[in-house]
Amino acid sequence: MAIITTEWTGTEYFPISELSHVEFFVGNAKQAVHFYRSAFGFQPIAYSGPETGVTDKVSYVLKQNKIVFIITTPLKSIHPASDWLKKHGDGVYDIALKSENAMQAFFSCIDRGAESGGTRVDYKGPNGKYVKYSIKAYGDTIHSFIQAKDYNGIWAPGFESVNLPDISFEAPNLLTIDHIVGNVEINRMNDWKEYYERIFGFTNFVVFDEDDISTKYSSLKSRVMRSKNWKVKFPINEPAKGLKKSQIQEYLDFNEGAGVQHIALLTENIVETISALRKNGVEFLHVPDTYYDELPSRVGEIKENIDDLKPLKILVDRDEEGYLLQLFSKPVEDRPTLFFEIIQRKGSRGFGQGNFQALFESIEIEQARRGNL
Ligand code: FE2
Repeated sequence: MAIITTEWTGTEYFPISELSHVEFFVGNAKQAVHFYRSAFGFQPIAYSGPETGVTDKVSYVLKQNKIVFIITTPLKSIHPASDWLKKHGDGVYDIALKSENAMQAFFSCIDRGAESGGTRVDYKGPNGKYVKYSIKAYGDTIHSFIQAKDYNGIWAPGFESVNLPDISFEAPNLLTIDHIVGNVEINRMNDWKEYYERIFGFTNFVVFDEDDISTKYSSLKSRVMRSKNWKVKFPINEPAKGLKKSQIQEYLDFNEGAGVQHIALLTENIVETISALRKNGVEFLHVPDTYYDELPSRVGEIKENIDDLKPLKILVDRDEEGYLLQLFSKPVEDRPTLFFEIIQRKGSRGFGQGNFQALFESIEIEQARRGNL
């Protein structure tokens, strides 16, 4: 089992409340927005582009309950996002945090060795005050600090409200971002663990290592970093030697470096959520029926009916504190890079590591039944 330490040993260098949003760089925001609306059920709430006085890029702000995604595309080859996209393809550029005082948070991080991420907005005007400062994170991702408490305009300076044609979809009712996972290069995991300790004052709460039995199957090592209030959780993975090629190494090869591997979205009713997402055309990981034969003996009693979970291929894992239900989408780009996780927590604060082994074993049972093992 993974080692889970729930006590807090971090330092509050500056106040950290919760995530503000995640910004994606994509090749064509107009089309990506249609996907996040029709497949994942997001609502467009703001737009920035030539019509609002921004000439070099277009951004759409999408919202669903507490989740905010910004989908950005460069309009010119000289925009830095063009180089970013050439290297990585569509993916996550900015994991932004809400801040009481963005400038103070930024300089506090710089004092402890962080590098500036480049973006800086310091607006004071008819719509109030909006401040944004950024620092570099793993790969070519950044963390922005967003101070928007006293901003009364639509989203941020340069944004206006947006009216896109209505489209129909099944509402998945995704509530908030549970965690965001970064994949980093081999032997770099501990450097990034230390980065989150030193720069953000976070605590390391899950350790998932090579001597862990499940590592053989998942071929990864992981450190989960968290904020004091548990609202910001960043697992950091690196590849490990296992029974097959590490999925982390495959990501690093196709992303051409470190980056965000998956975003986990929380629901309070995973059966309804997965059912809606499947109707909307979201593709999920293959789960063999044999997984469900072993489920009762592996996780014990759960409130959900296994006959409801099996057709939707929802996974279950248990630890000392409770259990969780989860399912992983296939990558949402042609490069096998970023994917989404849907998660419902029933007491467990873990990440479902037991599922790596269970999935691997049930795939083997399936293979054996076909006489291919
Ligand atoms: Fe996850």
